[in-house]
Amino acid sequence: ADEKLAYKSRIKALLQQKNAVLVAHYYTDPEIQALAEETGGCVSDSLEMARFGNEHPAETLIVAGVKFMGETAKILTPNKTVLMPTLEATCSLDLGCPAEPFSAFCDAHPDRVVVVYANTSAAVKARADWVVTSSIALDVVDYLDSQGKKIIWGPDKHLGAYVQKQTGADMLLWDAACIVHDEFKANALVELKKQYPEAAVLVHPESPDSVVQLADAVGSTSQLIKASQTLPNSTFIVATDKGIFYKMQQQMPDRTFIEAPTGGNGATCRSCAHCPWMAMNGLKAIEAALTDTTGHEIFVDSALREKALVPLNRMLNFAR
Ligand code: 13P
Ligand code: SF4
Repeated sequence: ADEKLAYKSRIKALLQQKNAVLVAHYYTDPEIQALAEETGGCVSDSLEMARFGNEHPAETLIVAGVKFMGETAKILTPNKTVLMPTLEATCSLDLGCPAEPFSAFCDAHPDRVVVVYANTSAAVKARADWVVTSSIALDVVDYLDSQGKKIIWGPDKHLGAYVQKQTGADMLLWDAACIVHDEFKANALVELKKQYPEAAVLVHPESPDSVVQLADAVGSTSQLIKASQTLPNSTFIVATDKGIFYKMQQQMPDRTFIEAPTGGNGATCRSCAHCPWMAMNGLKAIEAALTDTTGHEIFVDSALREKALVPLNRMLNFAR
């Protein structure tokens, strides 16, 4: 505990020295989220992270999350130094959607508007007409559908299928998934619900349809946190990364939050839903990034940046 306190106080001093602010996602470890809060940074979902970094006056952003979040920050604020605790923190959706084949897929359907999830590389965003996060995916696709547009959706097949079902839009889906949410198991969830019949089920739409169907509320991380405050239940079963429990418990200390079951090989596994890449954002790595930026700084090719900025700005303006 003493060692952690020492890390925290050194990081606080470095943040001040470098005119830097810490922006963290709800899936990072509780101590990272707490540090962002204590130091005037932000803890939020991916849309709010983008907006906060865009609007904050600090010269340096240190983004505790995964690479696409750092890239998004750099695309939106190229004059800022954008650092990440590690550049190795990727995302299975980003990995599952390389720019070249995705671009060929889009080329094969030139009549379709290309909508990509924020969890993608700058190169994939550069090929898109729209970027969306899970908090506004439904609204954007609904809007495009009302304009009579047909859509290419990438990369998350589960989120895409959910949006398609909800909006009835004509969507062609790329085939990739989040390795964390893909593991939630509907059968085990039905069993767990029997043990807690009064519990409400909160599900992130990166989860399979069979799990989404059991939900009382479906939404982005910030929408699920909101549901955990506004629904009348006192117990919640939560199907998303366990990092989210920090904020849910902080906001509603008298409520009980239970992890939805995941399982490999049919076995039920609790406490498993934690993104291995989000987990790389430790105190040590944050101190290292602020001490020597080498190997921690995000750079985006300027031609790519200009192209990727267009669909990103469309998202920010739409969500306003
Ligand atoms: P949101 O915070 O936008 O819901 O995104 C979830 C996610 O998977 C980020 O990696
Ligand atoms: Fe990607 Fe899933 Fe990790 Fe989010 S939780 S960064 S979607 S692998």
